[in-house]
Amino acid sequence: MEAMKLLRTRYSALKLDGPSTSVEAVDAMLEAASRAPDHGRLRPWRLMLIEGAARLSFGEILAASLARRNPLAGDQALAREREKALRAPLIIVVATRCDRSAKIPVVEQIVSAGCAAHGLMLAAFAQELGAMWRTGEAAYDEMVKGALGIGPDDLIIGFIYVGTDAGGVPSRPRPVVQEFVHRWTADTWKPATT
Ligand SMILES: Cc1cc2nc3c(=O)[nH]c(=O)nc-3n(C[C@H](O)[C@H](O)[C@H](O)COP(=O)(O)O)c2cc1C
Repeated sequence: MEAMKLLRTRYSALKLDGPSTSVEAVDAMLEAASRAPDHGRLRPWRLMLIEGAARLSFGEILAASLARRNPLAGDQALAREREKALRAPLIIVVATRCDRSAKIPVVEQIVSAGCAAHGLMLAAFAQELGAMWRTGEAAYDEMVKGALGIGPDDLIIGFIYVGTDAGGVPSRPRPVVQEFVHRWTADTWKPATT
C-alpha cells in the first residue's frame, strides 16, 4: 500500500478472525516496531507474542485480574474476560523497558514504546491485516504485569490484537485537522523584560 494512503486511511479493526498471521507478516510488523523513534537508542520497549494455546492462559490471567479487582464479578463477566484473549489469533503485548538511570526522560521512553505499538498497527494495516489496540484495567494491574514478566517500574502500553479484519471499515468520525492545529504566531509570548 502506498505510504501516504496508509497513513491517511488506517483504522483499527472492529472484529478480528483467523487464520493465524504468517511468520513473514509478523516479522515485518516487528521490524516496523523496531523503527520507532528512540531518543538515546535505549530501545525502551519489549514485545511479547501470545499465540495458540498460550492465549487460554492469558485469558485466565485476565479473568483472575477481573476477579481480584471486582470480587462480585459473575461467571458471565469472567467468561467475557477470558474470551478477550481469543478475539484474535495473535496478541502482541507492548511494554516499556525504561532505563530510569538514563539521561533521557522516562516520558520520552514511554512515548517511544507507544510509537513501537503504532508501528505494529501500521504494518498490520499495510499488509491488509486487521489490528486493534486495547488496554483496559488489566493493563495497569501489577498481577497481570507480573504474570507477563513486566516489572512494577514498567508499563503495558497495549495489547495489540492481530488477525484478519472481519469487521469492515468502521464509520467512526475522524477529527477535523483544523480543530487541533493552529499556526503559532508568537501572540501568546512576551519577551522577558529585565
Ligand atoms: C494506549 C491506547 C489504549 C487503548 N485502549 C483501548 C481499550 O482498552 N478499549 C477500546 O475500546 N479502545 C482502546 N483504544 C482505542 C482504540 O485502539 C482505537 O484507537 C479507537 O477505537 C479509534 O479507532 P481508530 O484507531 O480506527 O482511530 C486505545 C488506544 C490507545 C492509543
